[in-house]
Amino acid sequence: MSDKKPVLELRKVDKSFGPIDVLHEISLKVREGEVLCLLGDNGAGKSTLIKTLAGVHKPTRGEILMDGEPITFSGPREAQGRGIATVHQFGGTYPLMSVGRNFFMGMEPTKGFGPFRVFDREKANRIAVEEVQKMGITRITDGDRLVGGLSGGERQSLAIARAVYFGARVLILDEPTAALGVKQATHVLRIVNEAKRRGLAVVFITHQVMHALAVGDHFAVLIRGAIAADFRKGEKSREEITDLMAGGEDMASLEAQLETYMDDHEGHPPQLSTS
Ligand SMILES: Nc1ncnc2c1ncn2[C@@H]1O[C@H](COP(=O)(O)OP(=O)(O)O)[C@@H](O)[C@H]1O
Ligand SMILES: [Mg+2]
Repeated sequence: MSDKKPVLELRKVDKSFGPIDVLHEISLKVREGEVLCLLGDNGAGKSTLIKTLAGVHKPTRGEILMDGEPITFSGPREAQGRGIATVHQFGGTYPLMSVGRNFFMGMEPTKGFGPFRVFDREKANRIAVEEVQKMGITRITDGDRLVGGLSGGERQSLAIARAVYFGARVLILDEPTAALGVKQATHVLRIVNEAKRRGLAVVFITHQVMHALAVGDHFAVLIRGAIAADFRKGEKSREEITDLMAGGEDMASLEAQLETYMDDHEGHPPQLSTS
C-alpha cells in the first residue's frame, strides 16, 4: 500500500451513454507524487474513464472525491480550475504559434499600462524556455520558434511543462507516447517522471508495456469497462502485465514463440498463406 495522499478518488463509478454501459463500478485512487498507469485494449473505456476524472463526463452512478471531499464538476473548465490538466497526443499545441505563445495561450504576460498594454514577448519566451528546460528538455532554446517545427515529443513536453507551471495537481495523459519513436517517447517518459517528482498525480494511458513499466507506480487494467487488475510496481512481471493487457490471452508466450521463429528465420515473421 502507499501512504501518499489521494488527490482524486473514484468510488464505484458507473458511466452509461443511454443504453450503453461503458464503465462498471470503477474504484480507483490517484495519488500525489505517483504515476497511475491505465492499461487496456481499444474500447476498454480508458478515455471515458479519464474524461470522467476531468469533468467532461458525469458519472451515472457512484462518486468522485477530491482531497477526500465528494465533488461534482460542472464541466471540464471547473476541473481544470481545480488543477486537473489533460494533455492529449501532440499536446494540443498550435503549430503556427511560437513556443512562448503556446506556453501561455491566453495567459500571456503583458507590459505597459492601460491602452498601451502589450504582450511581453521577451518575458513569455524567457519563462517558456526556462520551464521547458527545467523539465529536462534542453533542445528548446528559442521561444520564438514555431511549434510546428518541434517533434511530437517536444510538443508533448511543452504542454506538460505548461500544465505544471500553471499549477496542475493532476496530469492526465492519454496515450502520449503512442505516435512517438523510441527517442521521443523517452523524452516524454522523462518529463512524466519529473512531474511526479514535483508531487503531481499523473494518470498515464498507454498500450506499451515497457513505457508503463518505465514510469508506473500503480497499475490498473481495464477490460470491458471494469477494473480487471489493480496492482503496484513490482507485484507483477512484464509477462503477466502483457497478458492482462491483451485481455487474459497468453500473449507473452505468443510473443516468445514469435521471437524464436524470427531468430530461426533471419528475423522474418511467419508468412500467412494467401491461397
Ligand atoms: N459518447 C459516447 N456515446 C456512446 N458510446 C461511447 C461514447 N464514448 C465512448 N463510448 C463507447 O465506450 C466504449 C469505450 O470507449 P473508450 O473510452 O474510448 O475506450 P478506450 O479509450 O479504452 O479505447 C466504446 O465501445 C465506445 O464506443
Ligand atoms: Mg482512448
